[in-house]
Amino acid sequence: MGHEPPPSYAQMRLAITAELSELEAQGRLRKRPVIDSPNGRVLVLRQPGGRRKLHNWASNDYLGAANRLRVKNAAARALRSFGAGAGAARLLSGGLSCHRRLEERIAHWLAAPDALVTTSGFQANLSVLVSLASGPEDVIILDRLCHASTYDGAHLAAGTMLRFQHNDLADLDKQLRRTSGAHRRLVCVESVYSMDGDEAPLVGISALCREHGALLLVDEAHAIGVIGPGGRGGCAELGVQADLRIGTCSKSLGSQGGFIAGDRELIELVVNRGRSFIFSTAPVPAAMGAAIESLDLLREEPELPERLRREAGEVRSALRSQGWQVPEGRSAIIPIIVGSEQPALELSALLLAHGHFAPAIRPPTVPPGGCRLRLSITLAHRPSDRLRLIKVMAAARSRWRDEAAAPGPAGPGA
Ligand SMILES: Cc1ncc(COP(=O)(O)O)c(C=O)c1O
Repeated sequence: MGHEPPPSYAQMRLAITAELSELEAQGRLRKRPVIDSPNGRVLVLRQPGGRRKLHNWASNDYLGAANRLRVKNAAARALRSFGAGAGAARLLSGGLSCHRRLEERIAHWLAAPDALVTTSGFQANLSVLVSLASGPEDVIILDRLCHASTYDGAHLAAGTMLRFQHNDLADLDKQLRRTSGAHRRLVCVESVYSMDGDEAPLVGISALCREHGALLLVDEAHAIGVIGPGGRGGCAELGVQADLRIGTCSKSLGSQGGFIAGDRELIELVVNRGRSFIFSTAPVPAAMGAAIESLDLLREEPELPERLRREAGEVRSALRSQGWQVPEGRSAIIPIIVGSEQPALELSALLLAHGHFAPAIRPPTVPPGGCRLRLSITLAHRPSDRLRLIKVMAAARSRWRDEAAAPGPAGPGA
């Protein structure tokens, strides 16, 4: 290998083009949609022939907070008070009182000793795993269906990464027994899984962690604002003492930025060792203002999560009764599992043709064979929006049986 001449620039470009063509042939090439409107109950999609107004089923703004006037006003106030950007990383000069205020609010809300705000939820996972699994004798044990940010954090960390079968307590127990000699073990799960919308058996997982002396990290990104008392997530609902809870302001809080809640010492360790926290500019003040206001919104309207679950439940039941492969659940995420790439793309295109935006979810976001549409129900949607969706899916279902050449809705789940 060392004796071959290096590839020319032209050869490298050709290889990259070939890689993209292969992705396209596999139905896995991704494109960036451009939206000319807020990402609300409807959106305006830029398309080659012009613009199209579509019903939007792809936003994780579950409570519809991002476009509530009071949340936008709070963002504007924070922007006017602190400026458009934070200016630097928190440990340099970027630590503004709005960052600390959000941390205090989150810690209080989740009854945690402390919290740390990061620029994204992705960064929160990276910085936690790098900080806590910092030596070769450390082990990270994650559920197979954990988010890419947990996987990437585990890859970046010095410790060894192991996986257990999704929601399988016996397999987790096995991995914990296998690693009894490790210096430090971290078990990573999500209270609500991002692509399936199902929930982790947190009580059993927490008991196993205690029994084996492992730390428990629960990513509550899709649970905050959706389940638990007043939307406080899965741990709060079940009385589970996770060592660290990860969250994001980018979903139910209608803003941007990640957070970590837990014991002071663990948070301090992340402040000192979490490179993606240390070496990245603090979140913009407007995002902090918006997130704080959304927490106020949840406090003043604690019925919102329950309403969201009820409305999502109605859509889930309707789709299941139409015969689609939709797993049971109670979150705002409704996966319609169709199997391989092509039927997922076809179903997405069919919905688009009828005015509904629901992109196909394909590997590597989901395992091969688990392609799906992932519908997010939000409180921004009106009853008539949901009704339209259900009608279009009923019509798609009958055409689907007739036309789909591929395995169709009976494909394997994730
Ligand atoms: C489970 C989970 N964790 C973390 C993240 C990352 O959050 P953010 O979008 O704030 O980077 C996401 C977002 O997609 C997620 O689904």
